[in-house]
Amino acid sequence: MVIALTGLGLVVFVVFHMLGNLQLFEGPLALNRYAAVLRDMPILLWAVRIGLLSMAVFHIGLALQLSMQNRRARPLEYTIHRYRKASIASRTMAISGMALLLFVAFHLLHLTAGVIDPGFADRRDPEGNRDVYTKVVHAFQNPFVVILYLVGQLGLGLHLRHAIASSVQTMGFEHAGLNRLLKALGPVIGLIVVLGNVAIILAVFLGIVH
Ligand code: HEM
Repeated sequence: MVIALTGLGLVVFVVFHMLGNLQLFEGPLALNRYAAVLRDMPILLWAVRIGLLSMAVFHIGLALQLSMQNRRARPLEYTIHRYRKASIASRTMAISGMALLLFVAFHLLHLTAGVIDPGFADRRDPEGNRDVYTKVVHAFQNPFVVILYLVGQLGLGLHLRHAIASSVQTMGFEHAGLNRLLKALGPVIGLIVVLGNVAIILAVFLGIVH
């Protein structure tokens, strides 16, 4: 239950983060003003950060504990695996989750803390706001960064594909008529988030946004 609830909380963040970042397409002033809103409200910013961090700690910690319990329950591996219903996404949740964790660690050091590639970290735009737009554009002009971010999106897409449907099921939402819709929710939301993020990465890399 806790894994499901914290997971859904993190999904809400990822959806809103993608929608917010799409303001890149409206130009530098729009994205920088948006980024400034949260930073200008430090109490709200830190409340969101502490909320996200606690959700991530509970989600990852309990998921690891569950995976280990699962493994201990059957110390001898099956010699033959014949999966009937389990999708690749559902069987690789631990791997996609780890990939996502590595991606988020890199992403925070890169675009939030400015430890990786700090060149544009302190720039301001003509309105005096932090120039997040230039930082993002500079980042995705680098093919290595683009590859890392695209791999991160693959992890995110795989994880969301199974996670949303699975959380909904864990919380007991079962409905004969709505089951197919509930099952489709994960892949659809996952695809929308990944397509939004990939659009940002590729629009910069291909020079459509500069
Ligand atoms: C193309 C995709 C993405 C772009 C362009 C992007 C962009 C950014 C930028 C520019 C910041 C720093 C904002 C600022 O300095 O004010 C940021 C922060 C952050 N991003 Fe992303 N992001 C992307 C994907 C993701 C994904 C997939 C996740 C999570 C799975 C994520 C999690 C975070 C977190 C946790 C922060 C820190 C927020 C804070 O406390 O300041 N991002 N992102």
